Amino acid sequence: MSGQRVLLIVGGGVAAYKALELVRLLRKAGVAVRPILTRAGAQFVTPLSLEALCEDKVYQDLFALTDDSGMGHIELSRSADLVVVAPATADLMAKAAAGLADDLASTTLLATDKPVLMAPAMNLRMWLHAATQANLATLKARGVLFVGPDEGAMACGEFGPGRLAEPPVIFEAFMAALAGPAARPLLGKRALVTAGPTVEPIDPVRLLTNRSSGKQGYAIAEALARLGADVTLVSGPTGLAAPPAVKRVQVETADQMLAACQAALPADVAVLTAAVADWKPAQTEGLKLKKGQTGAPTLQLVETPDILATLSKAGAQRPRLVVGFAAETNDLEANARAKLARKGCDWIIANDVSQAGVMGGDENTVNLITHEGAESWPMASKAEVARRLAERIVQALV
Ligand code: C5P
Repeated sequence: MSGQRVLLIVGGGVAAYKALELVRLLRKAGVAVRPILTRAGAQFVTPLSLEALCEDKVYQDLFALTDDSGMGHIELSRSADLVVVAPATADLMAKAAAGLADDLASTTLLATDKPVLMAPAMNLRMWLHAATQANLATLKARGVLFVGPDEGAMACGEFGPGRLAEPPVIFEAFMAALAGPAARPLLGKRALVTAGPTVEPIDPVRLLTNRSSGKQGYAIAEALARLGADVTLVSGPTGLAAPPAVKRVQVETADQMLAACQAALPADVAVLTAAVADWKPAQTEGLKLKKGQTGAPTLQLVETPDILATLSKAGAQRPRLVVGFAAETNDLEANARAKLARKGCDWIIANDVSQAGVMGGDENTVNLITHEGAESWPMASKAEVARRLAERIVQALV
């Protein structure tokens, strides 16, 4: 990234302080940052802080620039490889969509011939308003890239979509935008990834679960997003942070996971790595089971839905490529082949969990089993396995 130049427009919003953290990340990566601070933005961060972190002059006034050269905003808009707007307020988005040019930020956005990446942040009602959604659609149709907004607690005390994406996520999106479409062959493709364990409640305090860490699935979601896919990660409880630029839906039970997967369709590819519980208690007690004189209770179990098999038979909604996982300790290929046929998926990634350290560890040794053949991949980090699988997915889809 060293030597790249970004023009950063900081709009007005409580989240503007996060722009300072973004500047720090960009500067650390050797990116030159030239800041434009809107009048509203200056209510939240001072020009001095931006100037100090960017090590460049802060541009604020349209007319001060025209004093200089008469073409200041044009030059500004073209002196960068990319324009980033963070936070992008409802007002800035509306101005950009309408083509207004009444201050330096909006004029620059109208004049630029460079890719624009917007990181929206606003109150959830403003974000969900039909006007903002229409502006979003207009800007997207014109090729403006977006990162976020996130869902969560807001400064105004409400909860919902509208929080500025975290600075490392904006940074990732910035790098992806700079890399251009060639580096993102999955642009426009939708991917569904499941990861982690499920938990099946016995009563309000006890549950059935397993040791899945979710690491492999999270790495796959990240690798697919990096190649430009629009990724939904349906995750059971893990201690992992959501990968950058991935939409994570958190669930607990197998039933919830299936519902979240179905809600995420249509998808071009589904990679189901989750260690879904095979059984759940036939009934969940409303009250905590008490130790009594009758001895230990008997746990009646019933089967959970098979998400992989369900999605593989989803008819018109079936993803073009459905990839399942199989943890095996013996007869890897034969078992994986049988699973391929039973579930109706296209590929099975069979991992050999007889080797110590695979479950919960950072390395994995896998075999790719397809209807055409089988390949054995060397032991590699889960990130490397994910990268390799993502490349294979590109070959299959593009
Ligand atoms: O049947 P088995 O658990 O061995 O199959 C493993 C594969 O099936 C994994 O891809 C896993 O995510 C998926 N699976 C599922 N729903 C289940 C059980 C397994 O999607 N209920």
